[in-house]
Amino acid sequence: MVNFTVISLFPAMFESPLDHSILKKAQGKGLISVRLVDPRQYTTDRHRTTDDYPYGGGQGMVLKPEPLVAAIEDVKSKLSRPKVILLSPQGRVFNQTLAAALANEEELVLICGRYEGVDERVKAFIDDELSIGDYTLSGGEPAAVVVIDAVTRLIPGVLGNAMSAGEESFSDGLLEYPQYTRPEEFRGTKVPDVLLSGDHERVRQWRRRMSVQLTGQRRPDLIGKVDLSPEEKDRIYSRRAPIYVALLHHPVYDKNKQVVTTAVTNMDIHDIARSGRTFGISGFYVITPVKALQRLALKIIDHWEHGYGSRYNTTRKEALALARVKDTLDDVLIDLERECGKKPLIVVTSARPGGRRTSFTELKDMVINTTHPFLILLGTGWGLTETIISQSDYALEAIEGCTDYNHLSVRSAAAIILDRLLRR
Ligand SMILES: C[S@@+](CC[C@H](N)C(=O)[O-])C[C@H]1O[C@@H](n2cnc3c(N)ncnc32)[C@H](O)[C@@H]1O
Repeated sequence: MVNFTVISLFPAMFESPLDHSILKKAQGKGLISVRLVDPRQYTTDRHRTTDDYPYGGGQGMVLKPEPLVAAIEDVKSKLSRPKVILLSPQGRVFNQTLAAALANEEELVLICGRYEGVDERVKAFIDDELSIGDYTLSGGEPAAVVVIDAVTRLIPGVLGNAMSAGEESFSDGLLEYPQYTRPEEFRGTKVPDVLLSGDHERVRQWRRRMSVQLTGQRRPDLIGKVDLSPEEKDRIYSRRAPIYVALLHHPVYDKNKQVVTTAVTNMDIHDIARSGRTFGISGFYVITPVKALQRLALKIIDHWEHGYGSRYNTTRKEALALARVKDTLDDVLIDLERECGKKPLIVVTSARPGGRRTSFTELKDMVINTTHPFLILLGTGWGLTETIISQSDYALEAIEGCTDYNHLSVRSAAAIILDRLLRR
């Protein structure tokens, strides 16, 4: 059983949520209790003031510390081992794991802020701050209802079927599989056959597969934390769009913004191929129209692919198997159209901030949710030319460090970009 005590200036806001469905039943069965405490009862002035102007000026009012702390102390003095939580957008973000931990507490005291929030000194009297998400509510009351609801569902005996809380979204770190009920066919769409098969093991497997797939597509932030079997990992991470990387040695700018051709380097070929292999890209192009430089690049690749290097270091051989050499970007596009059956979407990169740029998060989302190939173009010298940039579909945001020095080597930039886009 969990006893909730809610400290709120608007106790009436809890009447309806507590008087329906699961929360009502849980109270009826004695599995939870909810006591509402109004801090106004703890004011000492004639006007029963609970808020005041912020020191330092600014909009709105702030909840005064005296009535709130008096309420907290009074409530605490009557409870054994209470956990006092302030609902606040600055708190830890509430989730299923925190809900499960709170369901093991006996006494939870939830404090609802209002206006511009509570006086900072109140925080010395609480155990934790919880936020229900990255948005601002007008008060802590809806957040307290969310916490009470999520915690109550996890108290044994609250939900009719003991299994149902355990199978929901987030219970195992995954989103829940799709649910169907009667009729068997609705407006032309049938319930998946497996659900009608009566074969419990097949149903279980289908549900697990759908949960993993859905979580991978919709919540890549969650999937990395889930225990997946090797087959599930394969399925999830190989479903994304194929990614190709091209290192352009011409046309690029020099420091005077003249269009030049830069030299091919051994280290770039090795390191970008190794990062590419680590993050599962499908191919790495070195683009240079200079025949002597092409021969150099091919010699390096050949040494590791077929020569002594291939026997000396097999993992290097594996990485350099991704490397290909082409004259121009157009040749790469033709090659990829042949390989993928469609033109790749071109993503240009630049160290210079500014312009309309696609964020890493946006691009990662696209990579996860499509199967269309992407070609990431890396520049050399002083960067990709306007002509190349004008041919692109997306311009990726610049990597920014935490100083005004921004001179990463192209191979470091490649590793960072691949990590941000493709890491599990
Ligand atoms: C308008 S908000 C105050 C916001 C505060 N000025 C800030 O920017 O952090 C008033 C009260 O609503 C509650 N609240 C607002 N958003 C919340 C959230 N995302 N999670 C939990 N409580 C929230 C808190 O109790 C907060 O003190």
